[in-house]
Amino acid sequence: MLSYIYSAFFWIGFLAVVPYLALVAYGAYGCPEQNLKTKYNAKWALVTGGSSGIGAAIVRKLASQGLNIVVAALDDQTLVKFKADIQKEFPSLEFRFVPCDLSTPDGQGYMDAVKKATSDIDVQILCNNAGFITTGCFADITLGRNMANYHTNVTAGVLLTHHFLNRMIDTGKSGLITFTSSSAGFIPNPMSALYSSTKIFLTTFAASLAAETVEDKVDVLVVHPSPINSNFYSNAGKMSALLSAQKISSPPSVIAETICRNAGKVVVADQGPITVIMKIVLAKVLDWNVFTEIMKLALRFNGDYKAMKVRRNIKSQ
Ligand SMILES: NC(=O)c1ccc[n+]([C@@H]2O[C@H](COP(=O)([O-])OP(=O)(O)OC[C@H]3O[C@@H](n4cnc5c(N)ncnc54)[C@H](OP(=O)(O)O)[C@@H]3O)[C@@H](O)[C@H]2O)c1
Repeated sequence: MLSYIYSAFFWIGFLAVVPYLALVAYGAYGCPEQNLKTKYNAKWALVTGGSSGIGAAIVRKLASQGLNIVVAALDDQTLVKFKADIQKEFPSLEFRFVPCDLSTPDGQGYMDAVKKATSDIDVQILCNNAGFITTGCFADITLGRNMANYHTNVTAGVLLTHHFLNRMIDTGKSGLITFTSSSAGFIPNPMSALYSSTKIFLTTFAASLAAETVEDKVDVLVVHPSPINSNFYSNAGKMSALLSAQKISSPPSVIAETICRNAGKVVVADQGPITVIMKIVLAKVLDWNVFTEIMKLALRFNGDYKAMKVRRNIKSQ
C-alpha cells in the first residue's frame, strides 16, 4: 500500500515538473533566434513603453531586423532622448512616436492617437510592454495611483490588443502579440498587490487568447522576466525584495532575445533561472492556498511591511 502511495507522489511530482522543465529548455535552448520581419512578412511593429528598459531593447532588436516601429510611451524627457538616439542608430528605418499616458481609464486619448498614427500601416507585431509597480499597502496608496497602475498594466494591453488583433484578422495578415508579464503574478504579493494581480491577468489573458488566434495565424507570447536592470527599480520605491532582485538583474536585451526566439514556438516564456525557480518552488511544490496562509501569518514580521505600513490614528466613535 505504502509503495503505491510513494509511486503516486513520484508520478505527480514528475508530471508537474519534468514536462515544464522540458518546455523551459526548449524555449531557452531549442529555439534559435528568428527574424520577426521575415517570419510574419511584416513591415511595422508597435511597442508600448518603448522608450526605456525592456521596451527600448525590444525596439532596438526589432529595428536591427529591419522593422519600422511605432513607439508609444509617456511624453517625457526619456522619450525625447530615445527618439533622437534611435533615429540616429537606424537612419534607414521609419519610426513613429505616440507620446501618451496609458494610465487613463477608457484609453480614449491614447487609442485615438495610436489609431491616427497607424491608420495607413499594418502593425503585425504588437508588444504590450509598458507597466510599472506601486509598492506599499493597497489601502495606503491613493485610489487614483492604484487605478493608474491598473489601467497602464492591464487596460492598455486589452484595448490595443483588441484593436490590432481585429486589424490583423480583417486583413488576413499573420502577426505576433506579446505581453511583458512578471513572475510576481505567480504568488500573492502583499506590498504590491495590484502589480502582481495585473501581471497574472496578462498571463491568463495571453494564454487564453493564444488558443483563439491559432487559425488566424496570430501568435501570442507572454514573457515572465527574471529581474531586469531598468528604471523599473528606480521607480518602485525602496522595497528590500526589489533592491535584492535588482542586484542579480540581467540586461533588458535578454527579453528582446527571448521574444525573437520564442515567438510562435511557445506561448508562455519563463525567462531566466529566478523565474523558473520561483515557478517550481513557489507555484508547483508549495501549494498556492498554503503559501497564502503562510504569507498572512508571516507578513507582520517582514521588514518592508513594518517600514511601509502606515499606522493610522484610529478615529474613536
Ligand atoms: N525590470 C524587471 O525586472 C521586470 C520584471 C518583470 C516584469 N517587468 C515588466 O516589464 C515592463 C517594462 O518595464 P521595464 O523594466 O523596462 O521598466 P522601465 O524602464 O521603467 O520601462 C517602463 C516603460 O513603460 C512606460 N510607461 C510607464 N508608465 C506609463 C504610462 N502611464 N503611459 C505610457 N507609458 C508608460 C515608461 O515610460 P517612462 O520611461 O517615460 O516612464 C517606460 O517606457 C513592465 O511592464 C514591467 O512590469 C519588469
